[in-house]
Amino acid sequence: MSDQQTIFVLNGPNLNLLGTREPDVYGRDTLDDIAGRLEDQALPLGLSIDMRQSNHEGHLIDWLHEANAAGAKAVILNPGAYTHTSIALHDAIKAIKVPVIEVHLSNPHAREAFRHKSLVGQAAKGTIAGFGAMSYALALDAAAKL
Ligand code: DQA
Repeated sequence: MSDQQTIFVLNGPNLNLLGTREPDVYGRDTLDDIAGRLEDQALPLGLSIDMRQSNHEGHLIDWLHEANAAGAKAVILNPGAYTHTSIALHDAIKAIKVPVIEVHLSNPHAREAFRHKSLVGQAAKGTIAGFGAMSYALALDAAAKL
């Protein structure tokens, strides 16, 4: 498949703990469960998924650059708590051409005040939040139609 058929799905800090991490907030699906469902969803669309997770801000930035250099169709990005703090992620999204869709399992606007500001959302093409694991499926649907 050409890179135009690839969707990078990048996940930030603590998302490796999905399944056991605050399940009342984030659900019981693991990141692998979500990856498997995205792959099933992508196949009939002629798309492939490149799913990654890191607890390190710089890795996420390097992967955004890589997705851009590869000419990926889109990036689905759950930046975890870096959503609310990272000017560097904001700048990286602004610096690249590949469209970035911000996703969140929870709805940060319905939570603590410190989650209400998204530096990533201010640079992203759009944001999908609050639908649990389905947020990723909705984001893939949107990415496929871009
Ligand atoms: C999150 C929301 C963030 O506020 C939080 O720091 C996370 C997960 C979500 O998917 O709901 O780590 O991005």
